Amino acid sequence: MCGIVGYIGKKQASPILLDGLKRLEYRGYDSAGMAVWNGSQIDALKVKGRVAALEKLLAGHPLEGPVGIAHTRWATHGEPSDRNAHPHSDSEGNVFVVHNGIIENYKTLKQQLEKEGSVFSSDTDTEVLAHLIAKFLKTGSTLERAVKKSLTLVKGAYAIVVMAQSEPETLVAARLSSPLRIGVGADQLIIASDPSAILNYTSQIITLEDNEVAVIKGVEYTISSLKSDTVIDKEVEQIEWDLAEAEKGGFDHFMLKEIFEQPETVRNSLRGRIIVEDGRAVLGGLASVEERLRSIERLTLVACGTASYAAMIGEYMLEEYAGIPTEVAIASEFRYRKPILNPKTDAVLVLSQSGETADTLAAVKEAKEKGVLTLGIVNVIGSTIARETDAGVYNHAGPEIGVASTKVFVSQLTVLALVTLLLGRQRQMSSVMGGRIAEALLKIPEQVEVILAQSGAVVAIADQYKGFQDFFFLGRKYNFPLALEGAIKLKEISYIHAEGGASGELKHGPIAMIDEDFPTVFIVPNDSVYEKNVSNIEEVKARKGRVIAIATEGDADIAKIADNVIYIPKTLEMLTPILAVVPLQLFAYHIATKLGLDVDRPRNLAKSVTVE
Ligand code: G6P
Repeated sequence: MCGIVGYIGKKQASPILLDGLKRLEYRGYDSAGMAVWNGSQIDALKVKGRVAALEKLLAGHPLEGPVGIAHTRWATHGEPSDRNAHPHSDSEGNVFVVHNGIIENYKTLKQQLEKEGSVFSSDTDTEVLAHLIAKFLKTGSTLERAVKKSLTLVKGAYAIVVMAQSEPETLVAARLSSPLRIGVGADQLIIASDPSAILNYTSQIITLEDNEVAVIKGVEYTISSLKSDTVIDKEVEQIEWDLAEAEKGGFDHFMLKEIFEQPETVRNSLRGRIIVEDGRAVLGGLASVEERLRSIERLTLVACGTASYAAMIGEYMLEEYAGIPTEVAIASEFRYRKPILNPKTDAVLVLSQSGETADTLAAVKEAKEKGVLTLGIVNVIGSTIARETDAGVYNHAGPEIGVASTKVFVSQLTVLALVTLLLGRQRQMSSVMGGRIAEALLKIPEQVEVILAQSGAVVAIADQYKGFQDFFFLGRKYNFPLALEGAIKLKEISYIHAEGGASGELKHGPIAMIDEDFPTVFIVPNDSVYEKNVSNIEEVKARKGRVIAIATEGDADIAKIADNVIYIPKTLEMLTPILAVVPLQLFAYHIATKLGLDVDRPRNLAKSVTVE
């Protein structure tokens, strides 16, 4: 995720671009930049840090002129720095590009362009676009044609806005899998990642669809498809959102928006990382340690909070499919318990959304002191944990604003499945099994969409249960840790007492609590422990306990014993938590909002915990 803005009109571009960037900062905030045509040339400013840092820079070096593009970055390739900030330019400084998304095949394109003489000045995937477009401009193409030719060569996801010295009063914008809107004012046009950067100036908005390219000259625009030049007649919508609503994409809270972003999150975590035919995962961040990984005989997964529940699910994946003895440690305990680690055969894999959690970082340091290979699954690029670990995989989930983690949890599970595939194929896993996991993973985004489409059913159940004071969440095997996640989600945003546990432990104590006022959410997909779970549901029902079941679609039997059922599509057992967590998140969200609570900023909690 990144935020992009483009302006063309009669006013000064820079204040409008800056205002847009501030509103888009929730989409990324590790560096920012702007390029403006001043009537004779395009000048650019870029800086590491928040939009405020760019604003400060602009105060000393104003960029004046009526055409410009700007960007607030959430790094995916290349750590946050001045040189990796957008806009990116070609070797001669003709073309300027801002980009949101990931160019999967940028390495191949970069090698080719370097052979042809391009000199790169950043570590980003985006820069290849600037060089490609410049190359086609040199052969006489218009900016529009050069952009179209370049985009047919790239694989991945993008929303881009491009400008060039050679055609300075034109902006070209295009999208594939990343959002882009165009605000149509009387004497100005504003292109932006979302309406929040536009609504201050106009409520007349066009939504660009995948494979559409917009060419804007002055206040005239034409939209055509990438593959043919046929002009597309686009509807201009009147958007009545207020600005706060616009930042949240029309959702009431960031948490709900992030829940609904999860199909895209999984796509982004998988993008360019799977080769289905070979049943393999390609994880560039682990390439440097791939040989060392072959000799690893034990893995310790370390994390805090929700990330530690993802780790526990990872433990089941890694043991069952990669055959590696794995244990999970909570970071705050790991660092004090004198862990026994063998530098030759052990590896420590930490998971952290922020990459700054103090206890998780201390665990990395502890492991490093013992000479053990340290790996990370981290969302924030260039964060301390990402830098301290020997190697790792980025989530590519974009910024998570809601304090309660949702989309990053789902992306942690996705990445753990990829790591399992990688390590499994290094060991005993067949290419057939690998292919099965790869295919099942690629289906997950659509399956999450199916669950989200039924969110109305969860709203009704939340309404029915919002008055209860206590809940159990129970599951087995892969879904035991998910039960812990279901309980913490409800607890942290609704302040309702909730306990998570293993279904099999029910009769070892928790069952004493069961009565008609203590409902249980059972995660009971059609998996290898289905019958055992059903027996536990019967035990709860026999004590008048109410049961909400998360079950596999088509399971009519479960509806006969549970009070309420939420269905999820069928997938591989190891991937069921990625689907089953979605109704759990929605359940917690809707109960909390029905109780009138601020789910994005729950009391007593912080998004990033940098103290012990
Ligand atoms: C806090 C957050 C949780 C998160 C945990 C670990 O408690 O509220 O949502 O799971 O920290 O954070 P990390 O950034 O390391 O994933």
